[in-house]
Amino acid sequence: MTTRQLQDLIEKMSTDEKLAQITQLNPVCFGFPYITPLTGPDPGLRIDRNLASSIGSVLNCDNASDAAAMQKAHLQEDPHSIPLLFMADIIHGFKTIFPIPLAMGCSFSPSNIEEASRIAALESSVSGIHVTFSPMGDLVRDPRWGRVMESFGEDPLLNSMLCAASVRGYQGADVRQPYHIASCIKHFAAYGAPEGGREYNTVDMSRGILHETYLPAYRSALQAGAEMVMAAFHVFDRVPASASPYLLSRILRDEWDFQGAVISDFNSVGELIAHGVARDGKEAAEKAISAGLDIEMMSTHYMENLNISLQEGTITEQMLDDAVLRILSLKNKLGLFEHPYKDASPEAEKKYHLCPEHRAAARRIAGESIVLLKNEGILPLDTNSLLGLTGPFSRSPHVLGGWSAGNTEGVSLYEGLCGKIPSSRIKINEWGEAGSALEENSDIDVIPEDLIASFRDCPIVIAAVGENQIDTGEGASKTVLRLSPHQEQLLQVLSEAGKKVIAVIFSGRPLEIFPVLPYCAAVIQAWFPGTEAGNALADILFGDVNPSARLSMSFPYTVGQIPVYYNHFNTGRPRVPSAPPTRYISAYLDCPEKPLYPFGYGLSYSDFIYSDMKLTQGEGGTGSDSKGLTASITVTNASPVDGIETVQLYIRDMHASVVRPVKELKDFCRIFIPGGEARQISFRITKETLSFYQTDSFLFDPGYFEIMIGKNSEDTLSETIYIDETFIGKQEKEMP
Ligand code: GLC
Repeated sequence: MTTRQLQDLIEKMSTDEKLAQITQLNPVCFGFPYITPLTGPDPGLRIDRNLASSIGSVLNCDNASDAAAMQKAHLQEDPHSIPLLFMADIIHGFKTIFPIPLAMGCSFSPSNIEEASRIAALESSVSGIHVTFSPMGDLVRDPRWGRVMESFGEDPLLNSMLCAASVRGYQGADVRQPYHIASCIKHFAAYGAPEGGREYNTVDMSRGILHETYLPAYRSALQAGAEMVMAAFHVFDRVPASASPYLLSRILRDEWDFQGAVISDFNSVGELIAHGVARDGKEAAEKAISAGLDIEMMSTHYMENLNISLQEGTITEQMLDDAVLRILSLKNKLGLFEHPYKDASPEAEKKYHLCPEHRAAARRIAGESIVLLKNEGILPLDTNSLLGLTGPFSRSPHVLGGWSAGNTEGVSLYEGLCGKIPSSRIKINEWGEAGSALEENSDIDVIPEDLIASFRDCPIVIAAVGENQIDTGEGASKTVLRLSPHQEQLLQVLSEAGKKVIAVIFSGRPLEIFPVLPYCAAVIQAWFPGTEAGNALADILFGDVNPSARLSMSFPYTVGQIPVYYNHFNTGRPRVPSAPPTRYISAYLDCPEKPLYPFGYGLSYSDFIYSDMKLTQGEGGTGSDSKGLTASITVTNASPVDGIETVQLYIRDMHASVVRPVKELKDFCRIFIPGGEARQISFRITKETLSFYQTDSFLFDPGYFEIMIGKNSEDTLSETIYIDETFIGKQEKEMP
């Protein structure tokens, strides 16, 4: 349909039909059998069928036959035969579950994210889904927040690149094509910075930090073509994001020219009352739609009130028609008017869900997302070793993490190990599932009496520890990030018994693992690796995969350090290593100010050595006169083991009109280097590389810049250089 035809359709719709069209409910709310869990508090909405006959979109249907049944019933009842739009949270897979996004962020691989999203789109589209509430572009610096698992981490560039890759994977070149779904980027904006890491809590930051650090990922997703935006729950600048004219109109519409639909989060319109900016549902509805919120999810204040508001003139017919046009335009882009069932097919579900190709992709991507944090020469294991295995994740299938689309089980570590060595060579002494902070006395496990005796013949013991996956995701903020007391005791007892302990940590966030490091000869941060967890871990443990992942989020020494992140400001009293000791610096009396493990950190079985850093004007060729700067480095794999290294470029603007971070990731390169060989890697530095957010745009300030290249944000070679307009290239493209 053309836009004119859509507008003609809108003209035929009654006000009630328009208001229903911009309302989204879970199937249970309008008379369909309860088919999927609610992803928020049940608001008790049960609207009758005649009202429901014009509802515009459905939240969280999860299979083809139910989606088709709902669509068929709806098309028979809707006076204008406007098809339903089915939306759901496909965050890191649909049936084949990939590692949590925070883990996939550690792969530093946009192609991995794009492939995982493409597969998720295929598997969910054949189950009737049209739109996913993903990627989550929220930048995170606080592991107390349970939803860090859904983020690609603490860096603006990495977040931006991976969010754009995710959108490309979901949408392809055209969402109308088979097996593609539309992407809804969330949660606009800066939901990842709640005070205290506490869910739904206030976010307060300068507009400069907002634009420079937190907004780039959302903008990058929209530049990649994301069709929708979800407004967040929290308050920003004393206004709830779901009713913020600054966020939803000034930035999204005026500055970014976003033409798509903006949807609320789960009842976030209704929550304007609790926030104290709306006396009742009517005022909440008026404030939200006036700010630019098109679709109301899981509350019906638009349906119940805006008719009156229109008559009063509090809102205009144009506001309402614009909102309706945006959702109808998305349905049209998806081809739903012609093909209302799009890709929904029970036969295709059987063919594609968890098919071998998808599982193979999940296993490969998990292997590139698992981070080797410590290795005292004990890994990789040889296949002749007799292995001890213990801890709550020894045989647990609960390795998918939060937001796994209703799936709960993957390949356990034990199963993975049995794929490498005979089970007769694995001595397992397991205990129950990891406790949960949601349960009283959750740390109920006790160290098995026979633990050490059972591992008498096992010089090496794998301890599979971590947090229960129900303690991650939404509504899972925690103030204690250590392993449970019994898990810490387990590692200590094994170590003190002379065992070589390999800790495999399952978590949806950086945990406080410093206290147990002395007991471990090796530490693997597994995150929640998804459907193929055990196989991917076994691949790494036995060296069939050389770990290449690098941390997407810093690990703190202690929760007391939080927020701790790499791209911080210098302060006026930084620690100066060469200066005499003093207390009058920006540091702690009882803890280092740096993280335990920094952003970009991760070990390999190879040994990569960096040398011969060069800065060259122009393209880096033979003194070509083209503008810009090329920074190059030689990386040598000094081991016999082939491996992938993620070479990282950081830059510091030494002096500018506003304070600048001590370093910022400006580029990176994942490169395969055969054992014993070397490669030269070059990075192009142009004006927009060096630009930063000033009054209302990204601009370049001439001056001294420190150029750093290395294997993580702390271990780099560096050169400092003066750069001005004559030396650096022209602004080639708008910053993300
Ligand atoms: C939840 C989440 C949001 C999700 C939505 C629909 O409250 O905040 O990320 O997309 O509800 O399930």
